Amino acid sequence: MATLTATPSDLTITPRKLSVARDAVNPRWWHGGDPVATAFFNALSATFPQGETFFIDAVRRYRDEADPVLKEQINAFIQQEAMHTREHVAFNRLIKGAGYDTAAMDAYTRMRIDLARSRHPIGQLAMTIALEHFTAIMAHSLLTEKDPMAGAPSDVRKLWQWHAIEEIEHKAVAYDTWNVATRNLSGFRRWFIRTQVMALISFQFWRSNCRHMADFFRQDGINTPRTWLRVLKFLWIKPGMLRRILPAYLSYYRPGFHPWEHDDRSLIAAVEQQLNSDPAAT
Ligand SMILES: [Fe+2]
Ligand SMILES: [Fe+2]
Repeated sequence: MATLTATPSDLTITPRKLSVARDAVNPRWWHGGDPVATAFFNALSATFPQGETFFIDAVRRYRDEADPVLKEQINAFIQQEAMHTREHVAFNRLIKGAGYDTAAMDAYTRMRIDLARSRHPIGQLAMTIALEHFTAIMAHSLLTEKDPMAGAPSDVRKLWQWHAIEEIEHKAVAYDTWNVATRNLSGFRRWFIRTQVMALISFQFWRSNCRHMADFFRQDGINTPRTWLRVLKFLWIKPGMLRRILPAYLSYYRPGFHPWEHDDRSLIAAVEQQLNSDPAAT
């Protein structure tokens, strides 16, 4: 993988249209009949609509300070995240249709986001770049699995692949906005805020994911140590997303880090081509 130190000058961020079937009837454990994998992705999806709206607001606040190129990227970022929100709202409705009650998760996410919105705008942007790094490296990990979401309905598989390529494509927009917004702070201070917030967000992000997964397991009657051993295996061994993202996660703590130092544009192109040639997914 090539290494870059800034956003590639020829990067185009393309908001792609996608619409998941609103009336689909998916199995309750849509991820190949696996309650653990299903709960993991359901938990993420439960937080996306409110989380991505928060990202949009955090970045948009600084749009007028950006140069024309970044301004255009911010606009594309907003369009992409708005579309993700819309489609995950639809997907979350299918989760409810499968019999899950997500009211408690929604209320918890609302409480966390309200708290985040009470912070200083620079703090909100720091949270956004931390979470955008998570989504980009998790997206990379998902797309480089041998056969991502092979057991999922094609519509659902396509939703997650589409979301993943766009997360990779716009992974530096919030970060570049952060560099503009904090231009008057010293290099040390920028690094200090960014990494402190990442440490905090890492804890909160996984606590929230585990909390939501526990909620799904409880509703399935399987919130047991045995299930949580399966979660550990799923996250650390096979497919082992946490193990796979660890090096890229740690690179965030290095002074001078930039999201495009992991140049995965070829991955976007490969997955996009595959999506376009998948007759079941159009
Ligand atoms: Fe997104
Ligand atoms: Fe994003």
